[in-house]
Amino acid sequence: KKAVVTIDGPSGAGKSTISRRLAARLDYTYLDTGAMYRAVGLHVRRRAVDAEDAEALEACLEELAIELLPAGDDDVLVLLNGEDVSGIVRSAEMGLVASQISAYPQVRRKLTELQRRLAATGGLVAEGRDMGTVVFPDALHKFYLDAAPEERARRRCEQLRQRGENPEPKEILEQIIKRDHDDASRALAPLRPADDAVIVDSSQMPLEAVVEFMLANIKG
Ligand code: C5P
Repeated sequence: KKAVVTIDGPSGAGKSTISRRLAARLDYTYLDTGAMYRAVGLHVRRRAVDAEDAEALEACLEELAIELLPAGDDDVLVLLNGEDVSGIVRSAEMGLVASQISAYPQVRRKLTELQRRLAATGGLVAEGRDMGTVVFPDALHKFYLDAAPEERARRRCEQLRQRGENPEPKEILEQIIKRDHDDASRALAPLRPADDAVIVDSSQMPLEAVVEFMLANIKG
């Protein structure tokens, strides 16, 4: 049986880049669970379902199929009922929608089940908010990747600038602090390190050094 490596933490700590590289080095599959929440958000929004209506939400989730397909250059395609929605789901707006629908127990139950099913097929580097605490409590290797809010805000601004936007650094930092608070204080699957997770702070560390640290820890 192949292992599951979990990487949880707030957004902007470098989870995606690190998880992709780690998966490539281990020859494991990279599981981007944020993309799954984003795809569900897109589906719910397109169907114009009122998420507060439990029955409607349940019905809407039943006709939903999400697939993640490896593409070249350790990229991943997100398929929603067969349609490639990779581009759409990565917008900041869909991040917000994902965050809203991720509070509903039906959504979390459905994705938790799907994520566990994917782990049955082989080695996995699972990235998200609740991988080590809820979805894979028995994972052999758990990491919690953190970074100072200021550093995460700096990276986020850089990213937005590369996309031709002109972010206000103070505003970005405030958004990050608010999102941290919301994620940590929500009732379901609050963001926190698993008791047996290794906590890594990437504030002062190049991402490649974090990957090497994790590899050494896994092989240790
Ligand atoms: O990581 P990413 O920014 O793509 O995640 C989008 C949103 O989905 C997060 O802000 C979080 O609210 C939600 N999420 C979650 N549990 C996960 C992954 C993501 O609740 N395992």
